[in-house]
Amino acid sequence: MLASTACFAILLTGVLANPVRRDLVVHEFRENIPSGFAKEGPAAPETVLKLHVGLFSNNMAGLEKALYDVSTPASPIYGQHLSKAEVDEYVKPTDDTTNAVLDWFKSNNITATKDTPAGDWLSFSVPVSQANELFKADFTTFTHTSTGKQAIRTLSYSIPKTLQDHIELVRPTVSFPTPQTPVFQVPAPKHANVTADSCSGGITPACLQTLYGIPTTSASQSSNKIAVSGFVDQYANQADLTTFLQEFRSDLPSSTTFTLETLDGGTNPQDPGDAGVEANLDTQYTVGVASGVPVVFISVGDGGDGFYDITTYLLGMDSPPQVMTTSYGETESDISIAEANKLCNNYMQLGAQGVSVLFASGDSGVGGSNDDSCTSFVPTFPSGCPYMTSVGATTGTGPETAASFSSGGFSNYWGIPDYQASAVSSYLSTLGSTDSGLFNSSGRAYPDVAAQGNGVEIVVNGTTQYVAGTSCSSPIFASVIGLLNDELIAAGKSPLGFLNPLLYSATASAFTDITSGDNPGCNTNGFSTASGWDPVTGLGTPNYAALRTAVGL
Ligand SMILES: *[C@@H]1O[C@H](CO)[C@@H](O)[C@H](O)[C@H]1NC(C)=O
Ligand SMILES: *[C@@H]1O[C@H](CO)[C@@H](O)[C@H](O)[C@H]1NC(C)=O
Ligand SMILES: *[C@@H]1O[C@H](CO)[C@@H](O)[C@H](O)[C@H]1NC(C)=O
Ligand SMILES: *[C@@H]1O[C@H](CO)[C@@H](O)[C@H](O)[C@H]1NC(C)=O
Repeated sequence: MLASTACFAILLTGVLANPVRRDLVVHEFRENIPSGFAKEGPAAPETVLKLHVGLFSNNMAGLEKALYDVSTPASPIYGQHLSKAEVDEYVKPTDDTTNAVLDWFKSNNITATKDTPAGDWLSFSVPVSQANELFKADFTTFTHTSTGKQAIRTLSYSIPKTLQDHIELVRPTVSFPTPQTPVFQVPAPKHANVTADSCSGGITPACLQTLYGIPTTSASQSSNKIAVSGFVDQYANQADLTTFLQEFRSDLPSSTTFTLETLDGGTNPQDPGDAGVEANLDTQYTVGVASGVPVVFISVGDGGDGFYDITTYLLGMDSPPQVMTTSYGETESDISIAEANKLCNNYMQLGAQGVSVLFASGDSGVGGSNDDSCTSFVPTFPSGCPYMTSVGATTGTGPETAASFSSGGFSNYWGIPDYQASAVSSYLSTLGSTDSGLFNSSGRAYPDVAAQGNGVEIVVNGTTQYVAGTSCSSPIFASVIGLLNDELIAAGKSPLGFLNPLLYSATASAFTDITSGDNPGCNTNGFSTASGWDPVTGLGTPNYAALRTAVGL
């Protein structure tokens, strides 16, 4: 009897000490380390990891429908964007989901905090040893070889079987995000001396005003904003902006500047030598093109997961900036499909609240950020996400042609959205069997639009230099949207929000169709431009006057 009680007691203690021993099932895994990373060895057991657990939302399908209802011009509620609270109603997990996950945390003595107001992300910090046990993981240190930056990741992790319907993903685990700046320096361009004389010495704000019909008069609406994302220690320099404006926008007060917001320990030091090419480009081609539209530079530190954290930051605002432009991108396959999808859904949430999310499409043609060893085309991220607008690049002005580096293609993660189905299917029928087997013809296709991206004149550390990349194109297109929003708000109308249903349904004249050039990569010629949409320059470059009409001004 006694023996038996003792035995029972031991058993009970055993159960109490190990209530974690639920059935664990592999939730996500990666077969290979992404190229560009090297494995160092096991992460030190005592190193503390901050883990974020993403919970399934109660109704993302409902939010997707709501997004299209407010973003499709033919819809009776076009432009009636949702409030933050309305979006959160769709995004929040069910009580069942939240409770099931919190119970599991509790049984492991874990206290989690909400990352988002909707509660679809919970986070907590534990040592690597505990994280390995909790998720049957093997957290390992990897080095990103080109930058030397280290990251702790696991190639596999598990969650309790009973939580499979509740936990969407855990990060950082199997994804290897490495934001790259798609920008590079080029020699002073020798543009053909052609249609737009103001472009003969390089791409400047005056050139873009002539080429795209962008207004030079100052915007008037102070509630209108363009957010410029800054990552990877890229700092935007105010003195360089002043020099830029004196040189290229002498009609604007040279004191015009951007405001600064920071997160994850981001900073914006103003030592001239700290000026970043990317950050200067992005601020100079928003402040200098979207005349008078307030610009906010958001400097995101390396302390977190930048692409997520900036969306969480904007989603936490009651009135987020109406436009966000980001000239950074990643390789789609470096991010797990679950992680990519949940981040893409953050762009859905921003769109539903009336934010236009724009990204540069990338600078490696169809080769993504890989070298030419690719055996199939490499989609970039987040251009494959259907709820954002991907911007490719053009070069030259007489006429504009595709920049050969302009990334474009088809996602392996997201299927083709309705708004582009007809445009893409026309392209595919023209393409025939070219490139067959090298890309996923049922995927979301990008870019959506394009703008100048070669020989763009900027000021860095006091000197003028020329740069190239879709990094130029995204802020330029964002400026066009910012100016349209200014006019819309002044007319008492809604800002444009998620752009794509509008862009694909606008008359062809809203864009200058780019029909020459291609985007080689992976030892192929890549895709060729064509009449109408193509996976090099999208629908084409903006025609401001026609876009004004298209948006009802
Ligand atoms: C949780 O904390 C209690 C009290 O400190 C302890 O007895 C128990 O073993 C802990 N459980 C786990 C799973 O760490
Ligand atoms: C265009 O070319 C002509 C002849 O070469 C030259 O005289 C003129 O200055 C050029 N214009 C510009 C704007 O470069
Ligand atoms: C910035 O310019 C100064 C003056 O020309 C130069 O001494 C310095 O090396 C430059 N810094 C960088 C990082 O280019
Ligand atoms: C191609 O795209 C579709 C739609 O997103 C997807 O379901 C499929 O898995 C993709 N195929 C490959 C080989 O990645």
